[in-house]
Amino acid sequence: MKQPVPTPRYHFTHASHLASIMKDGLLSDTDAVRSGSLMVDIGNADIKERRRGRMVPIGRGGAASDYVPFYFAPRAR
Ligand SMILES: NC(=O)c1ccc[n+]([C@@H]2O[C@H](COP(=O)([O-])OP(=O)(O)OC[C@H]3O[C@@H](n4cnc5c(N)ncnc54)[C@H](O)[C@@H]3O)[C@@H](O)[C@H]2O)c1
Repeated sequence: MKQPVPTPRYHFTHASHLASIMKDGLLSDTDAVRSGSLMVDIGNADIKERRRGRMVPIGRGGAASDYVPFYFAPRAR
């Protein structure tokens, strides 16, 4: 499949986060929890816990929860 340029990226979040995302940008789960910005957690708790223990073996490393997740297509209805 040919990648569209520019490539749209999607991130779902609770609407109550929009003001602080506009102010501070999108934070990783690690930073959103640490800074107190995460007000309504709509992520799956089991998946999020796994991401905290899944280490990234390349680049700057850390855990998957140290990165911001995106989708590359809208969710199907
Ligand atoms: N959110 C997505 O678009 C998305 C995309 C693909 C996969 N997933 C998967 O879903 C699971 C849960 O993901 P998640 O959505 O809980 O994301 P997450 O685990 O990164 O949790 C961080 C939360 O903080 C919010 N946040 C980020 N910056 C903020 C700011 N400045 N102010 C206030 N809130 C801010 C995020 O929107 C999110 O709700 C994960 O397994 C993830 O891989 C999520």
